[in-house]
Amino acid sequence: MRVLGIETSCDETGVAIYGDDGLLAHTLYSQVALHAEYGGVVPELASRDHVRKLAPLVHQTLAEAGLQASDLDGVAYTAGPGLAGALLVGAGFGRALAWSLGVPALGVHHMEGHLLAPMLESEPPAFPFVALLVSGGHTQLVEVSGVGRYQLLGASVDDAAGEAFDKTAKLLELGYPGGPALAALAEQGDPERFRFPRPMTDRPGLDFSFSGLKTFALTTLQKESAGLAGDELKRLKADIARAFEDAVVDTLAIKCRRAVEDTGVGTLVLAGGVSANKRLRARIDGLMAEHGGVARYPRPAFCTDNGAMIAYAGWQRLRAGQHETLAFDIRPRWAMETLAAV
Ligand code: KG4
Ligand code: ZN
Repeated sequence: MRVLGIETSCDETGVAIYGDDGLLAHTLYSQVALHAEYGGVVPELASRDHVRKLAPLVHQTLAEAGLQASDLDGVAYTAGPGLAGALLVGAGFGRALAWSLGVPALGVHHMEGHLLAPMLESEPPAFPFVALLVSGGHTQLVEVSGVGRYQLLGASVDDAAGEAFDKTAKLLELGYPGGPALAALAEQGDPERFRFPRPMTDRPGLDFSFSGLKTFALTTLQKESAGLAGDELKRLKADIARAFEDAVVDTLAIKCRRAVEDTGVGTLVLAGGVSANKRLRARIDGLMAEHGGVARYPRPAFCTDNGAMIAYAGWQRLRAGQHETLAFDIRPRWAMETLAAV
């Protein structure tokens, strides 16, 4: 079975084809340049750009796979969570294409896509595993016993980890998208100069809170930056970036250790945009090595939003016979625990 996957939930247009022998082709168009001047994603601009880019990307992906549209056996598109207008572009296109080809269509949960993305790698994780999902909109620890068998262990009570990276980057004037820029600046920072709190690690449980860290970064910047300019100001920002990154990585690692100990599971999967962060990966690798377990994550290009993860999740479900009826639905808010098991 060959499945076309379409991702349009936010600011990347992603298309891929996944078949029984693996990933056949994938293409991505990032809208970063479009939103950069506004300092964040402008939903209406995102929708219009998906409209412009989706059909050409589908043609390109089919060409790269050496296939015709008539070779497709199903179409999967992100149905949520995400920006409503942006989701409707992928959903409308995907449904129409599937209908015209006479093949089934399926709306995929974006976070399930992220969660299953490590399955696209040469050493996929085996079930059961614990997944730390860290994206711009979500921070979740999930116990995974199979496709669609998800138990939420903990989540952020306020900002997601990626959102905290983006907001802190914004106040350090690093532009959009902030996460990678903040991580790059942190490399030049002094890890000893500031120590930021590790929120909610002093109490039991697996929930997170990241909104206080950005406030901590702001007050540190305000207190320390008086009279600074040029290189000195840049050094201060680098030191703050490093302290912030260390605090987020440490907090995530503390909760991951707890989740692995509580569940007794030996594999930890890291996925979502923040899983591209090198320090987080190194920390989780070390943690799992200490536990005699393994850490698995997607290649960097599949940590952030992409079509391949949607094609893969869709392939899993479509080949199990799941598909939509002719009525169609998108879900800007959608709890992953409500998904049917495969
Ligand atoms: O999964 P994703 O592409 O989109 C959502 O589903 O939200 O995640 C995007 C998030 C953004 O907040 C971005 O700043 C963050 O992932 N991100 C990073 C890094 N690369 C992307 N955060 C920290 N370090 C990185 N290297
Ligand atoms: Zn995402």
